[in-house]
Parts: sequence; structure tokens; C-alpha cells
Amino acid sequence: MASNSLEEIKIEDLKGVGPAIAEKLRENGLVTANAIAVRSPKEISGLTGIGETVIQKIIVDARSKLNIGFETANEILEKRQNIIRFTTGSKSLDDILNGGIETRAIFEAFGEFRTGKTQIGHQLCITVQLPKEEGGIEGSACYIDSEGTFRPERLLQILERYPQLDPKKALDNIFYCRAYNSDHQLLIVDKLGPMIEEKNVKLVVVDSIISHFRSEYIGRGTLSDRQQKLNRFIHKLLQLSEAHNLAVYITNQVQSSPGVFFGDPTIPTGGNVIAHASTYRLYLRKSKANKRVAKLIDSPCLPEAEAVFSITEHGIED
Ligand code: GTP
Ligand code: MG
Repeated sequence: MASNSLEEIKIEDLKGVGPAIAEKLRENGLVTANAIAVRSPKEISGLTGIGETVIQKIIVDARSKLNIGFETANEILEKRQNIIRFTTGSKSLDDILNGGIETRAIFEAFGEFRTGKTQIGHQLCITVQLPKEEGGIEGSACYIDSEGTFRPERLLQILERYPQLDPKKALDNIFYCRAYNSDHQLLIVDKLGPMIEEKNVKLVVVDSIISHFRSEYIGRGTLSDRQQKLNRFIHKLLQLSEAHNLAVYITNQVQSSPGVFFGDPTIPTGGNVIAHASTYRLYLRKSKANKRVAKLIDSPCLPEAEAVFSITEHGIED
């Protein structure tokens, strides 16, 4: 394979990267040649304060070393074999997702309040840590919270179901950050690279992706600015998922579509930007008591399907 040391080539191997530059790049989460190659000089310069011309040369070298270009379908197949999956905790939910949450993908859950979006986020932070033979991938998790609804106490309750995990250690493997506004949210994701490597992060949760954007950009005139920034954010998540072979779980809110008179008028917010970037979209709705229905829509290779799960004392179950 020509180009597939994507994740292995370190920045120090690139022409023009001495110790001082390497440190600045590292501080900003740019630790592999891949991370350099997929960004623009302007973007990296803005992050690190290093001049654009210097960065330009480094990018050229990163791109030439990576030999970015066409790959055969066999090469893509081989890369996709690195994808690993972990359980959601619900067999029926796993089933419609072809076995669970997978790396190199963005999972979006949208639905009205109390449909379980946040609960699934908590659950996944734990199931990602399970041993491989028990449906996990032995990774840690990073939780970016824009709504202030993260609850470690809830994690402890869910952990009661998994005696194989030591509760103290399991909480130590979940790295939490509160995002205070949309700029802060972008900055957090910019800086994630080193921690992902160091802590073996295999899941990034963003709950929710949209709330700051919705409250900061009000009125029609601001929509295109908002969408551009949201696009940057979600593409950074995509880059991370591919560069580090990890899974991303984002939650999204809903709005009522004014044009719909028959059927369900509920649509996700964020428009095409989120729709196009999400690999899997789950529409959650309430059913009887603690039951919830998840409908998989817009998946690249799976059929539209529904799963029923419950939110119980111990998290997400069948
Ligand atoms: P918003 O963020 O408000 O849009 O909602 P959400 O979709 O994130 O909902 P969330 O994931 O917070 O789900 C809330 C549901 O989970 C509620 O119906 C709660 O009853 C249920 N829930 C939360 N904690 C527990 C718990 O400890 N035990 C049980 N049985 N249910 C819980
Ligand atoms: Mg929530």
C-alpha cells in the first residue's frame, strides 16, 4: 500500500520541523503527518502562531510523504478492516447498527427532550471501555458537554451493570470538558489530538453539537456564518475519527418543519451540514414508559430500521 502510514508518520519526520516547531504543533493537537496534510497553512498558522510560509513547506512535505492520491478499492477495504465496533448496551440497537458503534464514523442522535440522547452518551463512555470479548474496545472516552447535563453519578449507576470494570478506574478513563460557547467548543476539538493519543481515546461525545450555535446565531442574516462554523466543527470531528480510528457520538436537537402537514413534522436542526457529515443518524422518540424507539435513517450501507430500547436504572438496555 502506497500511502497508509497515515497514522504512523510523526511530525518530527517532516522537513522543516525542529524541536520548537514540533512542540507548538503538538500543543495544538497536530501530532501526525496526516493531521498536517489535511489542513490549510492558514488554519495551522492561526492555531500555532507559526508563519504561513513555514507551515506551507511543512504541509508540502507531509503531503508528499503521505502520497495522498488515489487508492484502489482493495486498499480502502484494507483500511476499513481497521474499523472496530463496540456495543451500545442494547442488543436491538446494536442490531440495527450492524453490531454497534464503529470507529471512523460519526453517529448522530436527534430527538425531542428526554428521548435518551444524553443517556446514550453516558452509556457509550462505559461500553467503549469493556474488554473486547464483552463487546467493548478497551478505549477511553472524551465527553464535550455544551448543555451541562453530564452526571458522573449516573455513570456509577450504569457501571453497576458491568462488574468487570472497576468504577474508579472507569471514571478515570472519561475525560470531561464543558464547552461554554461555540468558539470554545471549536477550540476544545482543535486541542484534542495529544490527549487522544496519550489516553487511547476511542470515543468522543459531543452533547449537544448545536445548542451554542442555536443560541448565538439568531435571525436569518446569521445563518450562513453559523453553518460555516458548524461545518468546520464537524469536519474536525471527522478528521479526528479517521486520523485516530475512533468513534464520534453527537447529539442534535429537533425543530418543527413548517412545510409538513402529514406525518411527522420533526426534523433535526443543523441542516445539510450535519446531515452530510453524519455517517449514521438515529431518530429517537418516546414510547410507553421508559421505552424508546430509535430509527436509523440515512445510513450509507444499512437499511432503514427501528429498534426499541429501554432507559433503566442501569442505562440503555433492551
Ligand atoms: P434533552 O437533552 O432534554 O433534549 O433530552 P435527552 O434526549 O438528552 O434525554 P436524556 O438522555 O436526558 O433522557 C432522559 C430520560 O432518561 C428521562 O426520561 C429519564 O427518566 C431517564 N433517566 C435518566 N436518568 C435515569 C435513571 O437514573 N434511571 C432511570 N430509570 N431513568 C433515567
Ligand atoms: Mg440531553
